[in-house]
Amino acid sequence: MSELIRRAHEYLNVYLKNDNPCNRINRQLPYTKYTTFMYGYMPLPYYALHSVDIHTLFNKNRMVQKPVLIYLHIPFCAYKCSYCYYLSTACHNKQVIGDYIDTLLQEIELVGHHIDLGSLPIHSIHIGGGTPTCLDVSQLDYVFSVLKRKFAIDNNTVIHCESSPDTIISEGKLQCLKRHGVRHLDIGIQTFQDSTLALVNRRHTKEMAQKAVMRAQEIGMEEINIDMLINLPDQTPECWEEDLKTIVSLRPTSVTIYCNALKTPHMLDLYYSKRCRFPSVQDVTIMNIMAYLSLREEGYRLKMTTYYSLRADGDEQKEDIPDVLSFGPRTWSLFNDTEYYNTFDLNEYVQQINKKKLPICVGAKISARRKLKQIIASRLQHVSHGVSKELWDKYKSQSADHFSTLEKIERQQLVARDHDRIKLSLKGIFFADDVFKEFHKHHERESLFLNVVLNNVFLRKLYFYVRSKAWSYKAFIFLNKLLPKIKM
Ligand SMILES: C[S@@+](CC[C@H](N)C(=O)[O-])C[C@H]1O[C@@H](n2cnc3c(N)ncnc32)[C@H](O)[C@@H]1O
Ligand code: SF4
Repeated sequence: MSELIRRAHEYLNVYLKNDNPCNRINRQLPYTKYTTFMYGYMPLPYYALHSVDIHTLFNKNRMVQKPVLIYLHIPFCAYKCSYCYYLSTACHNKQVIGDYIDTLLQEIELVGHHIDLGSLPIHSIHIGGGTPTCLDVSQLDYVFSVLKRKFAIDNNTVIHCESSPDTIISEGKLQCLKRHGVRHLDIGIQTFQDSTLALVNRRHTKEMAQKAVMRAQEIGMEEINIDMLINLPDQTPECWEEDLKTIVSLRPTSVTIYCNALKTPHMLDLYYSKRCRFPSVQDVTIMNIMAYLSLREEGYRLKMTTYYSLRADGDEQKEDIPDVLSFGPRTWSLFNDTEYYNTFDLNEYVQQINKKKLPICVGAKISARRKLKQIIASRLQHVSHGVSKELWDKYKSQSADHFSTLEKIERQQLVARDHDRIKLSLKGIFFADDVFKEFHKHHERESLFLNVVLNNVFLRKLYFYVRSKAWSYKAFIFLNKLLPKIKM
């Protein structure tokens, strides 16, 4: 056992000696990652799904004072990774991608009929997917020119863009992003192990990934974040240690470490058929602790539960979260105290826009309680910031349900008091999902149901078929009208 792995085990034993959650937590399937639900992918509880009244949502008489985060979804990639459950498909057809961009920009145009986009105070722009960098330079030029025409973007606006190594090492792509003011580049690397990359259908190698990071550094990209995955098939703490060494030798400005949520048919097949060995709950925790130990030694600070950064600033978070206006299929938005999803199906999305209709499918007015819950969950994620004691107590006093949620987190020592703030404890950081699942209790019920369904090959196929259909969400709205309302 290497020194780092030994130290990680020691850490686990010292900090969790009385109550090691690995022993009791059933983190098997479905592995729902509660920790990365903020911005863009926030789940709406099924019982809160209603149709949205556009005129109330985009009420012209209401001045938008809150900063607005703009998200654009590009649902195309050069290949489809077998673990990825985001709305994205492999596409190499320039025409198809071009047509989609036109549709996406038309959606912006349609929203612009209801609100004055140019006067919105912009928080930041996020272009994600999928892999936005599978657009060619002329297509990227077009997207950015429209964005700049429609929104109040200036040199201070922080623009984020997601990418994969193979799509940015070609000549000109990175220069194009830089020219358009992209300051934060996200590179999905996942692992530096060539055999695992091939196993999960990624079409780049370790060498290409290293080259991509170095090129982004050479052109002076302000912030380079790399996405890594733990809980991959056949991954061990030993290969993870090699990956950590490669990360620190590259020194990107930040590293996001996701835990592979086994949610795709391919991953579930690998898991149930036992054709690959997945790391145990204990090993996943060990890998998290290894990252914590080695990245901290190299000057990285843990800013959010899954996000390490070399930057010292950026902890001064406000108590509120920005509004989010998202464009593209299956995106989540929060605007004027209403959260809503766009239609989940790409074809239906295109059809709606062609009919000049906004593609909003379901949504709900956000209650004061849910808002407070979102703020607390979001603030807790910022580990050095946490939640003010005042806000924590306010939430606790709202209902017996809230009281018991926070009591449970406190009792399990997942949070600790630091002066007048409540922050995640080290245990809370390594078992962050156990904290955040408390804020998404409706998913717990879904998980129990899914555990039964996914275990069976036939039911699993049926489940993925139903989920892929847009009508299934309409059925949810219909059922929602029949079912008595359940309190959150
Ligand atoms: C929307 S993807 C875009 C990244 C980029 N297309 C790439 O992979 O090269 C953003 C990140 O989500 C993470 N992700 C994808 N599938 C996941 C899963 N099943 N569980 C956890 N994280 C996942 C990956 O780390 C990925 O880099
Ligand atoms: S991980 Fe990235 S490249 Fe792979 S399918 Fe998902 S969005 Fe596409």
